[in-house]
Amino acid sequence: MSAPTHIPVLLQETIEALAVQPGGRYIDCTLGAGGHAAAILDQSSPGGQLLGIDADPEAIEIARSRLEAYGSSILLVNDNFADLEAICIKYDFLPVHGILFDLGLSSLQLNGHSRGFSFQHDAPLDMRLNPGQKVTVADIVNTSSETKLAQLIKTYGEEARSNQIAYRIRQERPITTTLQLARVIEQAVGGRRGRLHPATKTFQALRIAVNHELEHLEAALKQAINLLGFDGRLVVISYHSLEDRIVKHFMQQESKDYICPPGVPTCICGHKACLRLINKRVITPSPREVQLNPRSRSAKLRAAERLIIHDEYYRGTEEHGLSAQFSAEGWRRPAMLKKLRVAFSSF
Ligand SMILES: C[S@@+](CC[C@H](N)C(=O)[O-])C[C@H]1O[C@@H](n2cnc3c(N)ncnc32)[C@H](O)[C@@H]1O
Repeated sequence: MSAPTHIPVLLQETIEALAVQPGGRYIDCTLGAGGHAAAILDQSSPGGQLLGIDADPEAIEIARSRLEAYGSSILLVNDNFADLEAICIKYDFLPVHGILFDLGLSSLQLNGHSRGFSFQHDAPLDMRLNPGQKVTVADIVNTSSETKLAQLIKTYGEEARSNQIAYRIRQERPITTTLQLARVIEQAVGGRRGRLHPATKTFQALRIAVNHELEHLEAALKQAINLLGFDGRLVVISYHSLEDRIVKHFMQQESKDYICPPGVPTCICGHKACLRLINKRVITPSPREVQLNPRSRSAKLRAAERLIIHDEYYRGTEEHGLSAQFSAEGWRRPAMLKKLRVAFSSF
């Protein structure tokens, strides 16, 4: 039997959206099996560098052996992208030409038999990306109130039958394995209707909740802006509407000069656009890609480019007095890079 693989989604589109160039510096915030990372390294050769981050230590090890040939061009870090800025400061890896988020799980995680991400295999109810984290899905399922469970399944799973499912879960507790939970959900909703297995949305909800996926995404996007050099690219591939909504809203807000509420006659927010949208319409996989890799079917790619900001407004680095200089002088200048390093090293 051949080893399980992960096929990188929208690969060519990602490389184009990142505008990968020789000698560039890139961050892959969701390294996974290293498919996108390898393509970025190939395209940025000679002289390209890549910082690869993944919360899952198993993913880091798989990517490490796959990317071994790239030697000192890569730096792999087992951490959560919610701490993106701190990671870049720690490893002195900023500013960068491009940042990629390819959200969700890799096929290796989904097909793995022991992590509890899928109800196709029986496994303990875990779903933690980082096994060092304390709380598992079993803890959430067995200790949350029925109201909390219903709310979580509705919000993160967009599941209309969340009350029935939460009620049944409370009746059947303790629930310790994936197949047990899938059966309980099936009983709650009266069996399968339509294409989706009735447990799909609840499993998505529990995974999002246990890993704080949406909060981490929001936090990381804000930090990413400050790490991009002028005309650096931010590229995000999402796989469900909750993620895509966050990415779309974030990129739209950051590409506007004013974000005052409607009806305010003169601007009170002082907000300045710091991104330019690259693709006005979201990029999705071709029918051919979906045929070859069905997992890609829900993928949505959004990309934006970092703009120069001409005034004092520059979030995140203001306290270091870097804002105006960083924005107006250009990050490729060695003197500016040195100043940034000095300022950040005081953290
Ligand atoms: C879809 S896979 C990436 C696949 C990769 N692009 C490739 O081509 O092989 C997503 C990866 O992101 C990781 N991940 C998800 N959320 C994360 C987070 N908050 N911090 C760090 N890694 C995360 C997962 O562990 C998983 O390995």
